[in-house]
Amino acid sequence: MSHIKPYNHPSLGKKEQVRMMFNKIANTYDFLNHFLSLGIDIVWRKKAIAMLKNKPNRTILDVATGTGDFAFEAIKMLKPQKIVGVDIAADMLKVAQQKIEKKRLGHLFQVTLGDSEQLPFEKEQFDVVTVSFGVRNFEDVKKGLENIYRVINKQGTVLILEFSRPSQFPIKQLYSFYFNVVLPIFGRLFSKDNRAYQYLPESVYAFPDGKRFVALMESVGFNEIICKPLSFGVCTIYVGSKC
Ligand SMILES: C[S@@+](CC[C@H](N)C(=O)[O-])C[C@H]1O[C@@H](n2cnc3c(N)ncnc32)[C@H](O)[C@@H]1O
Repeated sequence: MSHIKPYNHPSLGKKEQVRMMFNKIANTYDFLNHFLSLGIDIVWRKKAIAMLKNKPNRTILDVATGTGDFAFEAIKMLKPQKIVGVDIAADMLKVAQQKIEKKRLGHLFQVTLGDSEQLPFEKEQFDVVTVSFGVRNFEDVKKGLENIYRVINKQGTVLILEFSRPSQFPIKQLYSFYFNVVLPIFGRLFSKDNRAYQYLPESVYAFPDGKRFVALMESVGFNEIICKPLSFGVCTIYVGSKC
């Protein structure tokens, strides 16, 4: 799926293009996220984080943290000791930083530039690594998962939330219409980026969801994998253990 890229720049790889796109839409990202998902993304995040309640969760790394919404929800629900967010897009992190300051959470939540495929941490540093709506954007998903595996503690957990494709009638058809027709129109209107909300459905359709993603997680070493579809399969939670 590394061939699905936001723009048509033959000289730039997927990572560079993804970075460029998220830097461009950073200031409208939060609004569009909630608007285009009709607020359901908030419910999905809460459901995903709830799955970490009975696991060790004192130290958390949120990969592809973006504007930090997943991390803020994790702070509320899990009360960790420390949470670090990494992302390749500086402008997304700028928005996250403004929110950290506004919420006075600087002692607890730090954000830094970092690539999932080369995480700037020693091995076994975190109880939990989370990625919400990020893996689909990685240039090399397997390398990203290998890095995540490396930085998780021995008893640790990975939690991934990602869009998937519903397969049942009529949800499949409604979803396809909304995702391929409605969403790109509103996305273009509000984000002022012609491609960002076309790339979104393209990247979701190219993503190896469900069993294929579970197999990829297993191939890097994760065990006891839970794959939990939400909202008729519009998105899926994947949880895996290192031990
Ligand atoms: C759709 S946003 C998700 C942001 C946030 N996690 C959320 O749930 O709202 C995807 C984020 O992934 C980041 N990203 C893409 N590839 C990445 C990589 N290789 N390493 C780190 N972050 C990456 C993008 O810059 C972007 O901020």
